[in-house]
Amino acid sequence: MPTDRPCALVADSLDPDQLKPLRDLGVEILDRAGISAEQLALEIGPCQALLVRSRTKVTPDLLARAPALRVIGRAGTGVDNIDIEAATRSGVVVMNVPGGNAVAAAEHTIALMTALARSVPQAAASLRAGRWDRKLYQGTELTGKTLGVVGLGRIGREVAYRARGMRMRVLAYDPLTTAEVAEDLGIELRPLDELVKEIDFLTLHVPLSDATRHLVDAGLLASAKPGLRVLNVARGGIVDEAALLESIEAGHVAGAALDVFESEPPEGSALVAHPAVISTPHLGASTAEAQAGVAHAVASQVGRYLTEGVIENAVNVVGLDPALREQVQPWADLARRLGWLASALSGDGIHQVDLTMVGEIASSCPQEALTTEVLMGLLNRFAGDRVNPVNAALFAEERGIRLSSAQRPAHKSFQSLLRVQVQHGDGSLNLAGTLFGTHNLRVVRAFGFNIDAIPEGPMLWCANRDAPGIIGHLGTVLADEGINIANMSVGRNSETGEALAVLNLDAEPSDTALAALTSCDGIHWVRLVT
Ligand code: NAD
Ligand code: MLT
Repeated sequence: MPTDRPCALVADSLDPDQLKPLRDLGVEILDRAGISAEQLALEIGPCQALLVRSRTKVTPDLLARAPALRVIGRAGTGVDNIDIEAATRSGVVVMNVPGGNAVAAAEHTIALMTALARSVPQAAASLRAGRWDRKLYQGTELTGKTLGVVGLGRIGREVAYRARGMRMRVLAYDPLTTAEVAEDLGIELRPLDELVKEIDFLTLHVPLSDATRHLVDAGLLASAKPGLRVLNVARGGIVDEAALLESIEAGHVAGAALDVFESEPPEGSALVAHPAVISTPHLGASTAEAQAGVAHAVASQVGRYLTEGVIENAVNVVGLDPALREQVQPWADLARRLGWLASALSGDGIHQVDLTMVGEIASSCPQEALTTEVLMGLLNRFAGDRVNPVNAALFAEERGIRLSSAQRPAHKSFQSLLRVQVQHGDGSLNLAGTLFGTHNLRVVRAFGFNIDAIPEGPMLWCANRDAPGIIGHLGTVLADEGINIANMSVGRNSETGEALAVLNLDAEPSDTALAALTSCDGIHWVRLVT
């Protein structure tokens, strides 16, 4: 049973030695490799982390049974077995290890391509069965042939380098790759429907998503060059297996090499049984090197998130590089406090939040990270710990709060400034803050007044007429309650004769004291913000 140390449940087979980074950080490991979905739902409750490969399905139901869960570590690349939206909604970070098995998957693709070209598994099986079928297994050469790579990411590129080394011509389709990048790789880009007309081998290296499900379907295969050979070392479901089998049986597609299947294992699959098809049981990433690498990487990423809050390789939240994180931290604190103040000082019905980063901070701090901090401050007042960096934007969106962020190059008085403006039911509120030195947080503008307020501890905000005796009255009422004023800032507007006083107090005044303050002639409103 888990102890009071953070606990990570390992649901799929990961090399236990590679989980050392988690153990070193004091995280308890529950090794439940191969656990059934039902048993996992029973055991996940107290665990803060879940480590998986592709076998375990992380569903909304499982997440509902995991109230303590903070992070899911995927020891590999594809995250299609995890319901990312549900995890985000639950505030759970999902991390993978991008590129951790790219070489393994690329080498397996090349192994399958050469095996497919020369019918190596079929010939080996025939010889083992006592036959000597030299004629039957005459193959085709790769040199001079054209390979079509769909998905020119980490694995696709590794495959392309190797194919070029084997003197193949390489064409590719990837909507996110520019012609310049492709040219540097010695590859020509083509739209998918044109690509299939020119190629002898097709290899897929895209994630499975709604956009890529059945990307290779009957229509695409029918328009392909006759004799095409198809490789899938990406994900089952990207190829329509029924359409592929039909095309092979019709003699249009010459053969296929498959590592992944629509259903795994592909029990009773006529495609797997077909003599022109060679298959492996999802072995793309199964090398000693890749498995050690991804297990070690995911263990250290998950451990650092649980113990230090460092987010690396998350697929549902922006993480910061550790050096940048240290530099950004005081600004993140300021952004969160401005968000908190904005919600405490403005009216109900906040529907728009605008963050402007002015001066040096605009170029040194990631906009999205600070926007998330403002939102967390703003929403935490209402939703408490349920809002975290993972789900803050979604939480706001679901409540109809629009966000915008902008950058301005310079400010006449401050080297760097954060401005937060919120629109609410009754109007809008503008706040601005900065850092004095490297760590002293200050609010320097609020309600149109220039101030110098410290956003910490109990703060009393008071809007009043700029007249003698008001500050004295504040001091007297607080003194009557035995409350010390630690710091005070007053902003004045000589044109309107109005002022804003912001006091840091050693303790929170009672409701009676607050009522006594408000009843004073010349004080328009007071608000206590803690
Ligand atoms: P990656 O994110 O580096 O690259 C994916 C590429 O696909 C990107 O360049 C993207 O622009 C492109 N892409 C996305 N949608 C596309 C579309 N509709 N058409 C064309 N291109 C599209 O990912 P990667 O590390 O190269 O891995 C690719 C996939 O391989 C993973 O998502 C995973 O499912 C699979 N994989 C399988 C094994 C295995 O054991 N068989 C091992 C590792 C990875
Ligand atoms: C991956 O996406 O990384 C692979 O499918 C590897 C795996 O988990 O087996």
